[in-house]
Amino acid sequence: MMEKITVNYFKEAKANGKKITMLTAYDYPTAKLLDEAGIDSILVGDSLGMVVLGYEDTTKVTMEDMIHHIKAAARGTKKAMLIGDMPFLSYHTGKYESVKNAGRLVSEGGCKAIKLEGGKEVTEDIKAIINAGIPVMGHLGYTPQSINVFGGHKAQGKTYETAVKMYEDALQLQEAGVFSLVLECVPHKLADYISKRLDIPVIGIGSGNGCDGQVLVTPDILGLFRDFSPRHSRVFVEMGNAYEQAVKRYIEDVKSCVFPALENTFKIDEDIIRQLEKELH
Ligand code: KIV
Repeated sequence: MMEKITVNYFKEAKANGKKITMLTAYDYPTAKLLDEAGIDSILVGDSLGMVVLGYEDTTKVTMEDMIHHIKAAARGTKKAMLIGDMPFLSYHTGKYESVKNAGRLVSEGGCKAIKLEGGKEVTEDIKAIINAGIPVMGHLGYTPQSINVFGGHKAQGKTYETAVKMYEDALQLQEAGVFSLVLECVPHKLADYISKRLDIPVIGIGSGNGCDGQVLVTPDILGLFRDFSPRHSRVFVEMGNAYEQAVKRYIEDVKSCVFPALENTFKIDEDIIRQLEKELH
């Protein structure tokens, strides 16, 4: 039987110095492809808001949006650990709401853990969610749901005070019980410093090679999201242009009657057509 990746795998990978790989997926075919390619973990991130739903940031993503897309990704995920993002204001409004919403992502959506953004201020919510039996992944550094507080997409932890705060927040999240922590757009030496001092694995995005694993947004690595290309990402295979070419060829072939060809059609007995022509004209 195929062994599923769980929180234990994250722990062992850190202990054995094995890098953890994570990518985002928001639908069945992408999750299936990532899973079959051997990714360790799939995140249904609230980046959904930008790369799939066309919002300018993540603050409009709802619980219903997340559940809908987690459900689809769950159907395509057999081995990887599926993690669902808690959307804006589905926590921060009291422990009861946090546990209830985390529970919905797991029981209705089908993910095996949730991720939420923030430091010390969310540790009580994290403890309550874990007490309800749901593993939690933390997220520090540039936390996209706070874009309006940061005043834009900016690296975080660049001053002594903010670096200390981030390190202390990371320790508090670990203490609260998170099984892993995402560090987004954190100077690579600070991310390395924090990763080396935590027992839990740190998954970096825009935070350098010293982290215990990496996560990226899948449409970014395929060149499929063309509104902007984040500096921290890399296009591993350019599929956006190929996609556009395919659509242009389709338009051309339909307009010039090259498509559909005979092999794309279905046959009927000639006598039936003759009979139709004779009887119905
Ligand atoms: O929403 C998301 O996709 C994320 C990752 C990029 C870490 O939070």
